[in-house]
Amino acid sequence: MQAYSRLQRSPPPILEVCYDACMKLTKVRYGYEPGDVWTLWGFGDWHVGSANCDKKLLYKTRDRILEDPRALWVHPGDAAECITVKDPRWASGGIDYEICPAGESDFVVDHQMHWIREFVEPILPKCLVWHEGNHEGKYSENSGHKLIVEQVLEPLGYKQLWAPAQQTTLMQFADEHGKVCSVRLNSAHGKKTGQSVGAIINWAINRLRSYDDVDILMRGHHHHCFALKCANVSTGRSHSRLHDREGVIMGTGSAMKTMQEDAKSYAEDADFMPVVLGFPRVTLRPDRETVRMEAIQ
Ligand SMILES: [Fe+2]
Repeated sequence: MQAYSRLQRSPPPILEVCYDACMKLTKVRYGYEPGDVWTLWGFGDWHVGSANCDKKLLYKTRDRILEDPRALWVHPGDAAECITVKDPRWASGGIDYEICPAGESDFVVDHQMHWIREFVEPILPKCLVWHEGNHEGKYSENSGHKLIVEQVLEPLGYKQLWAPAQQTTLMQFADEHGKVCSVRLNSAHGKKTGQSVGAIINWAINRLRSYDDVDILMRGHHHHCFALKCANVSTGRSHSRLHDREGVIMGTGSAMKTMQEDAKSYAEDADFMPVVLGFPRVTLRPDRETVRMEAIQ
C-alpha cells in the first residue's frame, strides 16, 4: 500500500489517499476535545436536471451541512440525471427547465454540471468521497467523458474525492495526547434495488457483516433513506476470537420524487415504488478508545 498524496485543508486537517489491491482507501484525521460530535451525511442521488428533483430539499440539506462546523458528507453518486436526447429514457423523462432552458436540450448535461458545480462548491471541503452513480456512468460509457470529474471536481480542485467504485474511509480522531480512535466507513453507489425497504435493510446488514473491519456501510442507488444500528462481530486485531462490534447501515436516500402531479417520469412509467425523500446521517462521538455512533434518519 503506497500513499500518493497528502493534502492540507480544513476540515479534514490531514487527508491521505492510498490504494491497496482492491479498493481505494482514504484516511482522514481530526483533533478532538471531549464532547465534540461529528455528523456524517449520506447526500446523493440528487438527479439534478430531472423535473422530479426536489431542489429545495437539496438547498436545505446543503445549508445544514454548511452551518455545522463538524459536518462531513459522502456523495454516493447520481448527482445529475445525465439523460440526453439520444437516451431512450428521454421521451418520458421530465426536464427541469430552470436548469436547462427550453431549446438548449443538446447541452442538457452541461447545464446540469454547471448547476451542480455552483451548488456544491461551499461544502466540498467537507466531502470525504464522491462516487460515480449509474446515471453518470452510463453517460461516461457512451461519451468517454467523466462529467463529474471534468466539470465539477477538477475545476474546483477536488479531483482526489472521485471514486468510481467502492471506497473505504478510515476516520481517525486524535485527542490532545495523540491517542487515536477510529471509524471505518465503506461506501459505494451500489447496484442493489428492491421494492421493499426491509429487503434492502436485510441485504445491507449481511453486506456489512461480510467485512471484518467496517463500522459503517453506506449505499445509494435504491433511493431508500435509512440509518440503523445493527449488531456485528469482529475477529479483532488478534484474529483469534470474536468480539461484539456495533455497526451502522445507511441507505443514502434521494431528492428524486417518483411521481409528479402534472407529468410523468420513467420511474413512474416503470411503476417504481415511491420512496421517502431525505438524507440520513450518523453522529460520531470520539471518546478515548472508541467512537460512539448514533444513527439518525
Ligand atoms: Fe439514483
